Amino acid sequence: MAHATEQMPYFIKPSLNLSDEDKIQAYQNVQSELGALLGDEQDILVIMSSINCILKSHLPYYYWVGFYIVHGDILKVGPYQGTLGCIDIAIGRGVCGRVAQSKQTIIVEDVHALDQGSAHIACDPNSHSEIVLPVFNEDRELIAVFDVDSTLKESFNHIDQQYLEGILNKFFQQRKLTSVFA
Ligand code: SME
Repeated sequence: MAHATEQMPYFIKPSLNLSDEDKIQAYQNVQSELGALLGDEQDILVIMSSINCILKSHLPYYYWVGFYIVHGDILKVGPYQGTLGCIDIAIGRGVCGRVAQSKQTIIVEDVHALDQGSAHIACDPNSHSEIVLPVFNEDRELIAVFDVDSTLKESFNHIDQQYLEGILNKFFQQRKLTSVFA
């Protein structure tokens, strides 16, 4: 399976952690920008791409940010920003696969402390902490997982979980989603 190398491409920078106070302010800015940008948007590709872009613009510890889409018993990479992401992940494997199985958010303070290949899949050796959240549609069916990686340990906490769960709920669960590819 192809994956990113240690060498960061010119357009990627290492993460910078934020204090809880600055994190809250950043997420509040993200919320207002996404609300203004997406309004009542229903196209799932537009919503996913815009969420990746606005979050990565405001949160300096967001190194890799993107969606893995449920396709039967595997997750396939969807819209993302960052270095090369793994294409397929079996449900139950890695952090993403375990979130898809449990339908619960997982925060990992140090991904390298996990069993590699089973509890964690290292698409990029520079990743050191991670948060992954389930994405549900209006019928509360799991349609994807949302994955964020940082190059620093302990970048994610309950504040990220609270705001990200709110954003995913607002833009996926509280509206009828459409797709030009459907
Ligand atoms: N680390 C994830 C795999 C996806 S890459 O981080 C983009 C996991 O363990 O499922």
